Amino acid sequence: MKKNKQAGFATRAIHDGQEPDPLTGAVTVPIYPTSTYVQQGIGENKGYEYSRVSNPTRDRLEENLASLEGGIAARVFGSGMAAIHAIATTLKSGDHVVCGNDLYGGTPRLFNQVLSNFGLEFSYIDTSDAENVERALRKNTRMVFVETPTNPLMRLSDLPAISAICRGRKVELVVDNTFMSPYFQNPLALGADMVVHSTTKFLNGHSDGLGGVVVCSRQDQADKLAFLQKAAGAILSPFECWLILRGVKTLAARMEIHDRSGRVVANFLAKHKKIKKVFYPGLADHPQHKLAKRQMRGFGAMITFETGSLKNANRMLKKLRVCSLGESLGGVETLISHPATMTHAGLGEKGRKAIGITDGMVRISVGIENIEDLLGDLESGLAAI
Ligand SMILES: Cc1ncc(COP(=O)(O)O)c(C=O)c1O
Repeated sequence: MKKNKQAGFATRAIHDGQEPDPLTGAVTVPIYPTSTYVQQGIGENKGYEYSRVSNPTRDRLEENLASLEGGIAARVFGSGMAAIHAIATTLKSGDHVVCGNDLYGGTPRLFNQVLSNFGLEFSYIDTSDAENVERALRKNTRMVFVETPTNPLMRLSDLPAISAICRGRKVELVVDNTFMSPYFQNPLALGADMVVHSTTKFLNGHSDGLGGVVVCSRQDQADKLAFLQKAAGAILSPFECWLILRGVKTLAARMEIHDRSGRVVANFLAKHKKIKKVFYPGLADHPQHKLAKRQMRGFGAMITFETGSLKNANRMLKKLRVCSLGESLGGVETLISHPATMTHAGLGEKGRKAIGITDGMVRISVGIENIEDLLGDLESGLAAI
């Protein structure tokens, strides 16, 4: 990792943690599908004892992802939710967490329906105004958890401003950076203490494996999370680690196309007479467009738009042939989802209304297919409204 610190992003993605295998010279990291390791004597081993604790393929992935996010270490887990769960279980009963009110629906589900039974307290606020964070802090607040941009409303949080509020108060700022990937945004460089990703999305990039990662800025966080890998066991398998190692090699190239096509699709939708509103930080009329330009290096591929009603959304979605209706995002293929009945169904109608998610909203994760084919498909879908 250190060796390539000065190298560019694409070089680090391809080489950090991905050095040729010392035994054979293989250019790809070997998959070590082993549960245990032969020991030379009592207390004598080659650095590996049992694969819940550590595995060479996992080590390589953790080294690679730490480099891409500019952290000191990374710990990978069986899914994005397992990674978020691990972060939350570094807290103690009685601790309070301030969260964005527009997170991926699975996160408040974990917080409210699982972890609140163990004495953790959560409150949800609009973190797009940093002053709301200041107001929400309590004596027992130990963590602020945000996504930026949010899912699906594409609101941004000013990370340096929130980090300045957290500093000196023993409050850790944790950022879910799944939507931007480390290619477009590095929260640790903007003052965050930890970064989490669902690697299922852009990092893997091929919709063929689940995973999650926490990237740490301090050794004590990395040690706690390594202990949680060993103690709770929600680790990522060597094969799925390898899928991500393979996926990240093309992250820079993929993100360039995702971003380029994302801008074209957002402009197309913004001009389309059937569309009432488009949520995309790359549009000049996005209320936080300036902040987006300041803290992100691109605008990405995630766009939400308003079709006007559930009926309109359904009519459009049924017509699509290139874009696939499905949960998830960040793959090479364009995926379209309906937040009200999919990712945010668990919030209930009232919860969705409170934060502005409507039945007519559709979210698109623009893939890397030919842009003409995507625009043609969307045009034919919109003609059905
Ligand atoms: C922003 C964000 N964070 C976390 C998750 C959870 O990740 P996983 O599905 O890998 O558990 C998702 C899943 O869609 C997500 O979109």
